[in-house]
Amino acid sequence: MSTMLLFPTPVYYTKFTGDQRERSLIDAEIENALAVTELSNPWHCNVKTSFRYDDNKVNVLDKMLLLRNYIREHVEKFIGNDLKFSIKESWLNVTDSKGYQDFHIHTNTISGCFYHRVPKDSGDLILRSDSTGLKLWKPYQYQDSSITPEDSSLILFPSFLEHAVRPNLSDKARISLAFNLDLN
Ligand SMILES: [Fe+2]
Repeated sequence: MSTMLLFPTPVYYTKFTGDQRERSLIDAEIENALAVTELSNPWHCNVKTSFRYDDNKVNVLDKMLLLRNYIREHVEKFIGNDLKFSIKESWLNVTDSKGYQDFHIHTNTISGCFYHRVPKDSGDLILRSDSTGLKLWKPYQYQDSSITPEDSSLILFPSFLEHAVRPNLSDKARISLAFNLDLN
């Protein structure tokens, strides 16, 4: 007799794999976008974002050729290069000191985040296993895993995976670019 814990969840994380010149150019793409992009606070958790809840999906990666290609290259490593996919929406997040994000899921198929600037103690990413139907059943309610991202790192995960960002305990802004993909 045994209780089996089945079905691992694929999560892809990579530090920056390009060279210093490519990294500087990608940094410039993000900085240029930040300079011209209007940010608001739709989530009431102290994150300034270019995300919008309307039918005109924001896609800041449209104007970032290098970062878009960098992300696409790693998505292919994650899901295999025989599947076609589209970046459906992408948005900038600026989290000032004490900002955080509550647990949430994304729509679409695969979601991800490129971490532009993540100062020390500016908030780990918390990934939570599916707890649907297990809320009263310890110890299988859920499990949390945390990732401490670094500058120019990238994470990819299934959009159904619940996640949150711990409070930014540094005095500097945490800047990231998140996105949702769908298979074609
Ligand atoms: Fe998210």
